[in-house]
Amino acid sequence: MKIALLAGDGIGPEILREAVRVLDVLRSEGLGVETEEALVGGAAYDASGDPLPKATLDLAKSSDAVLFGAVGGPQYDTLPRDKRPEKAILGLRHECDFFANLRPANVFPELADASTLKAEVVSGLDIMIVRELTGDIYFGKPRGISGPKGDRVGFNTMHYTEPQIRRILHTGFKTARARGKRLCSVDKMNVLETSQLWRDIAEEIAPEYSDVALSHMLVDNCAMQLVRNPRQFDVIVTGNLFGDILSDEASMLTGSIGMLPSASLDARGKGLYEPIHGSAPDIAGRGLANPLAMILSMAMMFRYTFGRIDIAARIEKAVRAALAAGLRTADIAVKGIKPCATAEMGTAVAKAL
Ligand code: IPM
Ligand code: MG
Repeated sequence: MKIALLAGDGIGPEILREAVRVLDVLRSEGLGVETEEALVGGAAYDASGDPLPKATLDLAKSSDAVLFGAVGGPQYDTLPRDKRPEKAILGLRHECDFFANLRPANVFPELADASTLKAEVVSGLDIMIVRELTGDIYFGKPRGISGPKGDRVGFNTMHYTEPQIRRILHTGFKTARARGKRLCSVDKMNVLETSQLWRDIAEEIAPEYSDVALSHMLVDNCAMQLVRNPRQFDVIVTGNLFGDILSDEASMLTGSIGMLPSASLDARGKGLYEPIHGSAPDIAGRGLANPLAMILSMAMMFRYTFGRIDIAARIEKAVRAALAAGLRTADIAVKGIKPCATAEMGTAVAKAL
């Protein structure tokens, strides 16, 4: 098993360090894992002028899996778009064809009180968001800003091809088949042609999965339903832009964006694993970050890329044990509880493992 470690910027390095601490426990038991680090995002730009250097991309391509921290920071926001840290994660997704993004939102019983929603609304929540990652307005052309000052035009293109829609819908149906057998396809077909095509194809494919109940929902309604009655959902499948927004929203149902892992898979199961949160420059380097989304992303790596469901389950159990022991980073600490540091949480998970 060869894993590329791309820590990135902000809190990326400190949370990845805790995941590696957990990985080291498995290595000490004799698990054959090879790791190699490379610079990515702002850190790579600072060192080489390129947020996704060729060496980093080559390492990602030659590894079985990528563990990715986070990229970005305010000091890079005025750079030309192709030099910005975000270009690195978008480039990796695109170049490696990591099209299927799985973002599970589960509420750990220990954390039902940490959500800003009432515990009775979120307890027992178990949603899987399947987000398309290589198409949509993120990559559509033409795009740009043109015209003279005072009369400028900004434009992007929402673009989806039939094969792109088909493959992610198949992932959605298969994911639902392996879980609660309910698939909600989210679009904006009352306004957008890409969404009309999406819905038509979903209907076309549905008979191949007669054991899965397919429903459709408009994205604005879905945003509302997620806070009104989130437990109505089993699997949500949606495009790149809507999935970006809905998964941030869903993370808060679980108590904190610091809890949500993700897997981004290609057609053969190779994957990039990253927390859905960003680089959080405001708290970087202070030991405040929650490493659990990163550690849970590593659990997903063992489940999806390496087929080691046993190890994935052990890591998840160790996370729950650390939570059950009362450890809380600041983002999930309820009033009156003293928050622990990033490394304390990582150490507790490693020990429990
Ligand atoms: C995410 C992030 C990225 C995205 C950014 C960093 C480009 O928000 O993974 O959700 O928009 O996809
Ligand atoms: Mg996002």
